[in-house]
Amino acid sequence: MKGKKKIYIVLAFLAVFCLVLTACGKKDTDNSVQEIKDKKTLVVGTSADYAPFEFPIVKDGKKQIVGYDIMIAQKIADKLGVKLKIVNTEFPSLVSELKDNKVDMVMAGMVSTKARKKQVGFSDSYFKIKNQVLVKKGEANKYKKADTDFKNKSVGVQQTTTQETIAKDQMKGANVVSESKVTALTTELKKDKLDAVVVENTVADNYVKNFPNDYEIAPAKLQTPKDLENINVATRKSDKKLITQVNKVIAQLKKSGELDKMLQKAQTLQAENK
Ligand code: ARG
Repeated sequence: MKGKKKIYIVLAFLAVFCLVLTACGKKDTDNSVQEIKDKKTLVVGTSADYAPFEFPIVKDGKKQIVGYDIMIAQKIADKLGVKLKIVNTEFPSLVSELKDNKVDMVMAGMVSTKARKKQVGFSDSYFKIKNQVLVKKGEANKYKKADTDFKNKSVGVQQTTTQETIAKDQMKGANVVSESKVTALTTELKKDKLDAVVVENTVADNYVKNFPNDYEIAPAKLQTPKDLENINVATRKSDKKLITQVNKVIAQLKKSGELDKMLQKAQTLQAENK
């Protein structure tokens, strides 16, 4: 009887031990890269309202999302030996799309802010940005100082972005209007429904270059804090193997000078398709 009891106790311990082992084992298994290879497709979420980073064009009668981020995404897909699929959603829902496994990664000119870092993982940075104030052509001289000249003015920003934070912090007395699409904001600016729109310098430059009769950049300077200037690829926190592959591609594109060329290519593409 005594012997039997001992065996039971040993067995019970063993069972618990095995359970703990499998639980730990599961946590450690990162199948991020293998899963993408198995489905032969890398699914990238973006918000195609942000030329030259991502924007739609019509090619051979078909709508297509192109841009700097998409070119980098294609290189990552090539590295993994799979096809690239772009899922176009509004920027404010991209982080949850990623967390809900709807996409494998997000490339949307996304800054690795502290708040986002709590929710998702980020690759190394592939681009640095600053912020500017886009206004209607002929209005730039009204806005020389960010902290005083936007009082009682309607300033458009994309919801949940770093621009929203920066406008609220630095444009004293402004009526900050948050919307889900940058393209809606710039259309409203043109139609005098907004007085200004805060966007990144690369995006602002593109508007001025492609639509010189509609927009200009105000001399008012915004500060871009160090932690709000890096653009990165977002992945799920657990997908460490995927981040490693992404970082390898970024490093290689930086070293070869291809990254700079891609940006120019994206800018030309927009100029040709505006
Ligand atoms: N860089 C800003 C941020 O991370 C805005 C990005 C907006 N991107 C876009 N595709 N609309 O908050």
